[in-house]
Amino acid sequence: MERNIFDDLYRIGIVPVVALPSPDCAVPLARALKDGLIPCAEITFRTEGAADGIAAVRAAEPDVLVGAGTVLTTAQAESAIAAGAQFIVAPGLNPDVVACAQEHGIPALPGVATPTEIEKAMQLGLNTLKFFPAEQAGGCGYLKALAGPYRQVRFLPTGGINAANIANYLALPSVIACGGSWMVPGALMSAGRYDEITRLCREAVRAALGLRLAHVGISSPSAEAALGGAAALEGLLGLEKIENSASVFSDVAVEWMKGCGRGEYGHIGFHVSNMERAVAWLERRGVEYLPETFKRGENGKYGAVYLRDTVGGFALHLTDD
Ligand code: 3PG
Repeated sequence: MERNIFDDLYRIGIVPVVALPSPDCAVPLARALKDGLIPCAEITFRTEGAADGIAAVRAAEPDVLVGAGTVLTTAQAESAIAAGAQFIVAPGLNPDVVACAQEHGIPALPGVATPTEIEKAMQLGLNTLKFFPAEQAGGCGYLKALAGPYRQVRFLPTGGINAANIANYLALPSVIACGGSWMVPGALMSAGRYDEITRLCREAVRAALGLRLAHVGISSPSAEAALGGAAALEGLLGLEKIENSASVFSDVAVEWMKGCGRGEYGHIGFHVSNMERAVAWLERRGVEYLPETFKRGENGKYGAVYLRDTVGGFALHLTDD
């Protein structure tokens, strides 16, 4: 069970850290997060009624992953678990809270910020930890150095993360997901502005995916025609020709296909920073991809994963190259 929760956290990639103004906000919030394509919440014990909020979400939106946050005591841990919390997060490493979660078979992610704290957590049998407060402790550079000796430990950085810096954290192989409160401000919940929370979530997901145009691929009738197109672009714009077995690239911008592949006219490639998260995002949106193209190569990359739909005669693929 534990592994599935961590797999889900990895595939979602973002954990909204919520301080509910009232337990009544919990279900509309969960729906707003789901609509925003982040079906996950860490409901913190910073406000009264956190346990009631957790229970309400578990009952009304069972496909939203719900954890308890800011769990400082075993009493809070017991109440969170009784309410149905699927994971427990804390700002620091309290062995009693960890033991309580372990007794119930619930994943615990206590907060750490130093090598000594990581080793204490490892002694308790843990290998997935909150890194808190992420930005204030030293950010990505510090986390990279901190994670270096602990190859088996994964981190949930939280604290000071936002749409502008989340992609940098998610690019680190030691990072399972990032936590943050920026998409769930209490004022928006109090004002019933759940549409704005959904918008902030979608913006966060876009930022986390690192989705941007990679190249345009153009179908050519032959290898000669592909080489001719690339030579013409080199002459006109000075873009370097880079030939491989199936195509000729004009720098990274245009790929001249040696023949007609997918798409009547060719394809458009979009870069993503992590293919597993990107494919999970397609699945949440009900967008179909060609499963035979979702294969990890020996270099650890997936290369091109094609969508089933084409647009304007162009196939569409994601790429992590
Ligand atoms: C937490 O409790 O995890 C943090 O307070 C969340 O940090 P943020 O508000 O800076 O996102």
